[in-house]
Amino acid sequence: MVDTKKMKYIRACRGDNMKVPPVWLMRQAGRYLPEYRAVREKYEFLEICNNPELACEVTLQPVRRFGFDAAILFSDILIPLVPMGANLAFGNGEGPRINPPFRSVNELEKLKSVNPEEDLDFVLKSVRMVRRELPAEVALIGFCGAPFTLASYMVEGGRPNPFANIKALMYKDPEAFTILIDKLKDMVRTYLGEMVNSGADAIQLFDTWAGTLHSSDYKTYVLPCVKEIFEDLKDLDVPMTYFVHNGSHLLYEIKETGCNVVSLDWRCSISEARRIFGTEIALQGNLDPTALLGDEKTIRNKVKEILQEASGDGGFVFNLGHGILPVTPVSSVEIMLDEIRG
Ligand code: CP3
Repeated sequence: MVDTKKMKYIRACRGDNMKVPPVWLMRQAGRYLPEYRAVREKYEFLEICNNPELACEVTLQPVRRFGFDAAILFSDILIPLVPMGANLAFGNGEGPRINPPFRSVNELEKLKSVNPEEDLDFVLKSVRMVRRELPAEVALIGFCGAPFTLASYMVEGGRPNPFANIKALMYKDPEAFTILIDKLKDMVRTYLGEMVNSGADAIQLFDTWAGTLHSSDYKTYVLPCVKEIFEDLKDLDVPMTYFVHNGSHLLYEIKETGCNVVSLDWRCSISEARRIFGTEIALQGNLDPTALLGDEKTIRNKVKEILQEASGDGGFVFNLGHGILPVTPVSSVEIMLDEIRG
């Protein structure tokens, strides 16, 4: 049996401030690792996501190499959009594509509801396999994209830039926007719930693109559905983390979502965040991923600054302020960990 009280990551999410905080990295299984690149030489990204044995193997790679305190399931936030009806592809180097995009009530009404046990059984199987293989003290994080972020990909048809289509839909066609957000909300809560039932010890909700909204729009269009998701999942009693990229202007709104842990973007000041969130909500973050492209002295100094700022009361998990970059030298991660663990 897994005893989550023995997991440093879970203890920090629950409020412990440890001298040596737990650490994991967003996108920790990825192209900066030679062992991941070796798997990618043989299989496409989606093939790995769809195959439990491969997904399990690459999930474990960074834990084996660095002894991270948490593993995050190898998958992508866009995977559950496929059983909803999205035609998803990852072109080499150009990021995700959804073709055709979804822009009208007519198209959106056709989106299917997802039964994770049938439609995403391969993900739940990966969760069970990873949990079986992980050391007992290492937590497994299940994740999902938040509705606004997933909606952005579906409406833009790929990486949202400059958000013209999703924001036009939001401002001009509230009926279509609401259909889409409601369908995504239903998927997110059942999917995250099933991940926990299958063995995830914690969950993280990625709201990458909510940071492009003004706080009043965030309150109108995003906060209600995120709040509902966390409210629904509260009884599962696992730590729930919320990440908004570029979300420093939304901290007061994020506090109202009901999450237990806030994953801070690297631009955000930890002390400012602590002042706003108090000690009831744990913090995770927030080294600038590009700091790991610097020299040893710079990496050590930046890690030290974060450790100092995060010391005191309130739970803290060391992480990056966004995903690790594929060009990151493995030696930089080693230096970072040496500075954290001493
Ligand atoms: O963190 C982890 O290690 C777990 C797995 C994970 C991936 N994507 C794997 C991945 C998680 C949690 C994600 C989340 C995700 N995916 C987000 C939210 C977090 C964030 O980064 O803001 C978003 C916006 C996506 C969408 C996505 N997936 C993009 C924009 C890209 C292309 C960027 C790139 O690096 O090529 C992906 C592909 C992707 N997802 C890769 C990985 C490891 C790279 C695939 C490869 O070529 O091997």
